[in-house]
Amino acid sequence: MDTLIGQNLTQASILLTQGKLVAIPTETVYGLAANAFDKKAVTRIFEAKNRPTFDPLIVHTHSIEQVQQFTKNIPEKAKKLAKQFWPGSLTILLEKNDLIPDLVTAGLSTVAVRIPNHPLTLELLKQLDFPLAAPSANPFGYISPTTAGHVEAQLKNKVSYIIDGGPCQVGIESTIVEVKNNQTTIYRLGGISVENIEAATGKVEEVRHSSSNPKASGMLKSHYAPQKKMIIGDIAALLPQYPCDKVGILSFRKTYEQVPKNQQVVLSAEGELAKAAQGLFAGMRYLDNQPVEIILAELMPEKGLGRAINDRIRRAATES
Ligand code: TXA
Ligand code: MG
Repeated sequence: MDTLIGQNLTQASILLTQGKLVAIPTETVYGLAANAFDKKAVTRIFEAKNRPTFDPLIVHTHSIEQVQQFTKNIPEKAKKLAKQFWPGSLTILLEKNDLIPDLVTAGLSTVAVRIPNHPLTLELLKQLDFPLAAPSANPFGYISPTTAGHVEAQLKNKVSYIIDGGPCQVGIESTIVEVKNNQTTIYRLGGISVENIEAATGKVEEVRHSSSNPKASGMLKSHYAPQKKMIIGDIAALLPQYPCDKVGILSFRKTYEQVPKNQQVVLSAEGELAKAAQGLFAGMRYLDNQPVEIILAELMPEKGLGRAINDRIRRAATES
């Protein structure tokens, strides 16, 4: 299959209407999209990603009206979150109706929904008369893509069209929440911080990862992982244990003189967490492709987006 890359939304919508796969830019990461109402089309997503079918997908829409078409009983607090954070990096679990095939939700009665904040994808969604099911556009378990080039590098022949929307502005996946009995639960840390959600809904509960039967695959202990071994710690203290020419560095602010420049990724010299999130996955991919044997990484401050970034770094560093 020849993959085309560009910004032709008409072509993308024709392909999607035919049941084909199209990679879409969002503000978090690129998604691998298909018609969420078409079971056969959704099957192709699982095949292309090599994703187990017990792992449910996020459904992307452009309006709350469209959300109401395929869900029921939206709790008041969920409506409030939607109003405040959509379009944006928040995914809300809602009771689904029969328009959503069971394959999309892995048999669960809830469907994960969000309105992404990217002008091209919002425009595309408005042109379609169905929502788009889309997981991150990476092979299952590998680092999520934040550019069209990342998608091309790994799924080139498995997708009919890649919409190039430039580098993702947020850079890490959406935060996943559920509202039940007026209580908000967070299942995956992500682009909207816990602090911001609590400011809107009051105290939230957090469900931490489990290695078996996870509610979100982002909860699997090893996920978002590079192929190279990654070690977390105090980089300055770890460095003397390794030959400098074989080491890659993923640091928040500092550079290290002993290590060649092209083997180092500094996420934000100014110490800005939003900037660190933006460059995180591209940085991990870059280091994974350098001739290094090991990647030394450090954690961010445990607040705001720093918590979501640390979550991704910890899972990337866990050896599978
Ligand atoms: O930012 C994002 O969320 C990106 C972009 C493309 O929107 N998408 C993304 O999708 O990260 P994915 O498939 O890589 O992660 C979706 C997560 C999975 O871990 C899945 O288990 C969880 O959402 N999920 C989906 N439906 C669910 C449900 N009904 N209950 C619990 N978890 C669900
Ligand atoms: Mg993913």
